[in-house]
Amino acid sequence: MAKFFLVVPVNMERLAFYELCRALSQLKIEEPSVETFPGGLELELPLNVGLSLNRILKIPVRILLRVIEEEAKTEKEFVALLKKSDLKKFMPLGNIHVSSRSSFLRFKNSITETVEKTIGFRPRENGASVFVRFFRDICTLSINTSGEDLYRRGYDKWVGEAPVRDNIASGLLQLLIKGIDTTQPIELIDPMAGSGTFLLEASMLGRSAQRKYACESWDGVKLIDVPDEPVFKQLHLIAADQSEKHVEILKHNFSLIHSSAIVGLEDLFKQSPQKKQRTRLVICNPPYGKRLKTGGSEDYFLEILDQIIKVYQPDRVGLLTPRVWLEHSKYEKLSMLDIENSGIEAQFVVFSV
Ligand SMILES: C[S@@+](CC[C@H](N)C(=O)[O-])C[C@H]1O[C@@H](n2cnc3c(N)ncnc32)[C@H](O)[C@@H]1O
Repeated sequence: MAKFFLVVPVNMERLAFYELCRALSQLKIEEPSVETFPGGLELELPLNVGLSLNRILKIPVRILLRVIEEEAKTEKEFVALLKKSDLKKFMPLGNIHVSSRSSFLRFKNSITETVEKTIGFRPRENGASVFVRFFRDICTLSINTSGEDLYRRGYDKWVGEAPVRDNIASGLLQLLIKGIDTTQPIELIDPMAGSGTFLLEASMLGRSAQRKYACESWDGVKLIDVPDEPVFKQLHLIAADQSEKHVEILKHNFSLIHSSAIVGLEDLFKQSPQKKQRTRLVICNPPYGKRLKTGGSEDYFLEILDQIIKVYQPDRVGLLTPRVWLEHSKYEKLSMLDIENSGIEAQFVVFSV
């Protein structure tokens, strides 16, 4: 057994836990005990199972393998730990990240130098980063099994203005569909789709990503070919955007994943009501903030919400906005989540209509 730490966006730990349970059942593995920390989940799994989670999980940023967790109060003890951990088997190694609190060994530069000297390597840009953490003299040494962060899905996605990060988009989508029967036909609409991240993530939920991970170059590692089990059994995707540039981006991005999404050049405020035939969910990240030169008031977002409901009559709407209150909305709020999206403090609210 090996110990893994899944690094996840703060406040998405619970969502990441549900996703993990689904992935383990896809791998036919019984649910192990999982410890939750702010920003991560820790659990023990057979080595190849933990490494293979890189392929399926969509919320984590990276998956760390805990190599050692032992006391080291002196440099000599630390060197002994490094030798015991045999880091060479994780070559090529990348950057070394050090943190230290309440410990005798506390100087980041000298800790980094000790690691480099003991294992005698120069970091490589695409190698597996090494994380060294000292807390109360316990040294935790971890290796990043993912390589490039997992929100890089391995396809040549074009991005527009202010895209939502892929793993955050997946987490929010997973919150939106909580309790919805995804075996039934579902229409998922993004009326301000930008580069279409939410809809692209919906297509990928339950499918392996087509990319490489750092751990695949380690001796003896063979990742499991996880059979795809799409979460949405009959998904109808509809993307709209008022800008021609984004419509081009959307068409390109959907063609990459061979999706038959409907893409339209539409201004949400000029659309007329559309007939509904099946469960309909809307997810939307309206423009806001200085970069996009638009408003950020409660009224602005309530107007968007009202318009979405008038045009689509959806069952649920998930709205990603800055942290405004949206107190005066007349619709029931099913859930709310505070997140950070590329450095901007944001909130996601799911309304039931
Ligand atoms: C923040 S971006 C969406 C980013 C998207 N979630 C992504 O991941 O790429 C907002 C998008 O809304 C579009 N937009 C703004 N006002 C609109 C309107 N009235 N109707 C349709 N699209 C609109 C903009 O063109 C922009 O692409």
